Amino acid sequence: MQELHQVTHIDNVRLSDDGAAVVIIDQTQLPNRTVYLTLRTAEELFDAIRTLKVRGAPAIGICAGYALYVLAQQISAETFPDFLTELQRQAAYLNASRPTAVNLSWALRRMMDTARRAQSTEEALTLLQAECLAIHREDIEMCRRISENGLSLIHDGDGILTHCNAGPLATSRYGTALGPLFLGRERGMQFHVFCDETRPLLQGARLTSYELSRAGIDTTLICDNMASIVMKNGWIQACFVGCDRVAANGDTANKIGTSGVAILAKHYGIPFYVLGPTSTIDLSCATGDDITIELRDPAEIREKFYREPMAPTDVGCYNPAFDVTDHTLISGIVTEFGICRAPYTESLRAVFRKKKEEHV
Ligand code: MRU
Repeated sequence: MQELHQVTHIDNVRLSDDGAAVVIIDQTQLPNRTVYLTLRTAEELFDAIRTLKVRGAPAIGICAGYALYVLAQQISAETFPDFLTELQRQAAYLNASRPTAVNLSWALRRMMDTARRAQSTEEALTLLQAECLAIHREDIEMCRRISENGLSLIHDGDGILTHCNAGPLATSRYGTALGPLFLGRERGMQFHVFCDETRPLLQGARLTSYELSRAGIDTTLICDNMASIVMKNGWIQACFVGCDRVAANGDTANKIGTSGVAILAKHYGIPFYVLGPTSTIDLSCATGDDITIELRDPAEIREKFYREPMAPTDVGCYNPAFDVTDHTLISGIVTEFGICRAPYTESLRAVFRKKKEEHV
């Protein structure tokens, strides 16, 4: 249980003790090295998000909140309106680092709304500090509740397939898609988890299999193209994945390859669940067609992680970082306010009503 605690209570993103920097674990170095980075400048913060040193939708949101507070302290403006203008410029810059995970713009908007409620720069700094800490604190609570709700869907001994990484490194504490597995383990349950390696950046191999195995959970790593055979073998009772943006109709953007897993799951009659906080639901996107998909460097496919290029260096590559899983393939969307079922246009809105009621 000591190992489990070490995984679920990892400090992947935090504000430095003096509040002047964001401290992150460099996720690109895992699992071989645990390296902490102290980020102070806008460029360092932008680069950390862009290059996936910090990654996973909720963790990106938490990092963005801290980042804007750190940058706010560096602004030297004569007047409060000038301070706000500069802060907005910094927020827009950070927001351009990655387009798909809505938690980035969600956290930055929340921080900007907070600053605008102040009457002076000094007051804004006080409110911004409280707000970024609140974003992080709330994420811990959300993950706990999602884990509890997700655990109600599975049984001791089940085989679970997951794609990419939606564990503690991508969030805070338990994670979303992996949260039920950690919580169940804490309660003495055992699951057999199959992790897709998740080409091309290997979040499943480098991060998910690392987190799960360190926590004493029975973990089997597979290449992405092996999902079908493990399903056919009868080894999978449910698929659990995270999300980067959920549209109003339930269409869900998540790591590239997720929609293929969902299609396979439907073929084999296996329930496919998306787990994520309400901060990842974007009702302003009517369907998945409204979600911008990030395109990344072709070198990630051709040469990254290989000793030498594994394709002609001039071959054309298409490298979308995410795909959209059609809502008809999703058995349920597990949020901190309950499990949404089809029709999602109704159940997702109901979840926001519940959230509002709870905050009154
Ligand atoms: O490109 P990444 O590694 O940031 O993509 C991460 C994912 O797709 C996760 O599944 C998603 O952000 C949910 S994390 C709780």
